[in-house]
Amino acid sequence: MFINKDQVKTVAIIGTGVIGAGWAARCLHRGIDVMASDPGANAEEALREVIANAEQALQKIVPVPEEKKGKLIFTKDIEEAVKNADYIQESVPEVESIKIPVLKEISKYAKPNAIIGTSTSGLLPTRLQSEMVNPERLVVAHPFNPVYLLPLVEVVGGEATSEEAITTVMEFYKMIGMKPLKVRVEIDGFIADRLLEALWRELLHLVNDDVATTQEIDDAIIYGAGLRWSIMGTAMTYYLAGGKNGMRHFMAQFGPALKLPWTKLEAPELTDELIDKMVDGTAEQGAGKDLREWEQLRDNCLVSIMKGLSEFDHGAGKVIKEDYAIQKERLSL
Ligand SMILES: NC(=O)c1ccc[n+]([C@@H]2O[C@H](COP(=O)([O-])OP(=O)(O)OC[C@H]3O[C@@H](n4cnc5c(N)ncnc54)[C@H](O)[C@@H]3O)[C@@H](O)[C@H]2O)c1
Repeated sequence: MFINKDQVKTVAIIGTGVIGAGWAARCLHRGIDVMASDPGANAEEALREVIANAEQALQKIVPVPEEKKGKLIFTKDIEEAVKNADYIQESVPEVESIKIPVLKEISKYAKPNAIIGTSTSGLLPTRLQSEMVNPERLVVAHPFNPVYLLPLVEVVGGEATSEEAITTVMEFYKMIGMKPLKVRVEIDGFIADRLLEALWRELLHLVNDDVATTQEIDDAIIYGAGLRWSIMGTAMTYYLAGGKNGMRHFMAQFGPALKLPWTKLEAPELTDELIDKMVDGTAEQGAGKDLREWEQLRDNCLVSIMKGLSEFDHGAGKVIKEDYAIQKERLSL
């Protein structure tokens, strides 16, 4: 029997960079204590800064008084961080040779029935759990940045993962305001990154071939497809695009284009020139605001979009409505 959602009082976050800090903010806001660990210089200071920034957005979705929020303890020692934790989330760099020993160490000190999630963006859980004690409790819990606002978490098991661990942990993710999506087949990149990677590779080709700047490519998304994507995914979008004859008509009309050389998919070589074009292009786009200001703009817009969607009980808007109802009951708000 694994520790279930109602028994989770303390979560350990191992690795407190962009993603680990996001998990910490999400849990703390919902009254769960967090034990965080990261060997980086100034890691604690950076973590507290991200949490403070996240709070201004989180308060707009689920207002929680200060005294009901979780407490944060930071330690450099993994054993101390995990030994009393009821759930553990690993978010160290996306390198197998770092993740495998860290997961091994976590599993050695963790309670044997505490489920362990890894934030990996696409590494296979079967490999990541290969040296763990009680590997049946490892699940991929792949979130999206900013983790404290975006509900999606892809859940993937490896060959040794128990089905019960997956079912149990999905209930926990729902309890902290997320939308768990079970990826039924263990594949590289899972579902979301397989899609995002295709777009990213095309973007790199367009820049590499001097077809467009990073700004122009981003404009091609934010004024069009990007607006639609928060409402419906590509399959439903094209179903509507087929008119009253739906997908069959859409496929007949645009089927021939699938044979045209529109996409390349295999990524271009990452030459110094291409890296410079990407760095310079995005630096120009980002000029005028510092990182925290961009994050706040992004967060405020995300909150507004989700609140807009909640008026229609749809997509992420439905999730934030349910999240509010769950926290109201859990925390007696
Ligand atoms: N950035 C994203 O958009 C994104 C989205 C989803 C998932 N992920 C995944 O999340 C994970 C973390 O990515 P990130 O973007 O937060 O990276 P990051 O570089 O911001 O953070 C990684 C952190 O891990 C720490 N670390 C390194 N070795 C460690 C160790 N042995 N023990 C504990 N901490 C250690 C580093 O000091 C750093 O703070 C990766 O697996 C990545 O693929 C990233």
